[in-house]
Amino acid sequence: MANMLLEAFKKQFGAEADFIARAPGRVNLIGEHTDYNDGWVLPAAIDYDVRAAIRARSDQTVRLYSLDFDQLDSFSLDGSIEHAEESKSWSNYVRGVASILKQEGYALKGMDALKGMDALKGMDAVITGNVPKGAGLSSSAAIELAMITAFRQLNGLDISPVKAALYCQRAENEFVGMRCGVMDQFISSLGQENHALLIDCRSLEYQLVPMPAGASIVVVNSGVRRGLVDSAYNERRAQCEEGSRILGVKALRDVSVEMLEKRSSELSEVVGRRCRHIVTENQRVLDTVTALNKGDLAAVGLLMNASHRSLRDWYEVSVPQLDVLAEIQQRVKGCYGARLTGAGFGGCTVALVAQTAVPLLVEAVKTEYPQKTGLTPEIYICHAKTGANILDPALEN
Ligand code: GLA
Repeated sequence: MANMLLEAFKKQFGAEADFIARAPGRVNLIGEHTDYNDGWVLPAAIDYDVRAAIRARSDQTVRLYSLDFDQLDSFSLDGSIEHAEESKSWSNYVRGVASILKQEGYALKGMDALKGMDALKGMDAVITGNVPKGAGLSSSAAIELAMITAFRQLNGLDISPVKAALYCQRAENEFVGMRCGVMDQFISSLGQENHALLIDCRSLEYQLVPMPAGASIVVVNSGVRRGLVDSAYNERRAQCEEGSRILGVKALRDVSVEMLEKRSSELSEVVGRRCRHIVTENQRVLDTVTALNKGDLAAVGLLMNASHRSLRDWYEVSVPQLDVLAEIQQRVKGCYGARLTGAGFGGCTVALVAQTAVPLLVEAVKTEYPQKTGLTPEIYICHAKTGANILDPALEN
């Protein structure tokens, strides 16, 4: 991928790239829709990523070429940054990041900054990625993090990885218009090789959780492109906010299973169901970490299966194809557990599988899933990788 990227850069801009900025997609092992309730999540960055070859410019123009869409776009960092035309929506993730950096008053170190000017340096960039789009593996967080990493490198900006995640989340919330939580950007920024991260989405503290030895993380794309996700997602958020308002807490993170049981009659039927998912899911995340630390993969698997049921029945973000896919995998001997991952409404499942059972699982998915749904699954065996970073083009050749 790096070679193709560097070649494309030369062809497009007639010069060599200075560096490559990279940021990974993610898979969430457990803790779904808990991030915007100040709760806990347990994602890992994966070996599918977005890469951008970058060359500094001396002016404030940003020229972008998307290798995957074969489209050019450009904008200026001078003045307010507008949205891209509709056919180039991928560019909004870059524009959004630039816009937040400008709002935050970041300027090029040196002359312009000394003169007090807001002068972020522009760039030529070629962007490509192999994170499946619209599959719930956070290709959008990956492009945001790759580009903030590029801006940081180019302009010598002092932005910590946590700050980078928060700025990218704001780019998505405020510029793109998706009210996502912080999980995707956080893990794309701070992911660690061979580890998942237990993230406390209130304090933003995190703990490294080693990936279990002898087991594989298998992600299967249902082939159902995530639909309806923005409106249904924002509706779920509003229902959670209503629940916490009625229960008199800052966020559902502050509600225990016992408290919810005692007070559920105060909530409407639907808000009660939403709260039930969040409150039990938070507990499942913490229980999963305890089980992982004990090496009790059977317990982890049961928690993953319970998470899927809760997302299906209480949070109502599954679709029949994801249910079928999770069930096929749950029945395979050696599969500890399987659940939908990400926002839902299509996209992928994640399964924890004994390494020796992976071929069996792959076979079951490949034969049974098309029979039952008429769809072709895509299977990714994932490894936990490091978060956003800069790659040296010389080493990538
Ligand atoms: C999307 C959002 C995340 C999170 C998940 C659901 O991926 O971007 O912030 O809410 O859905 O867990």
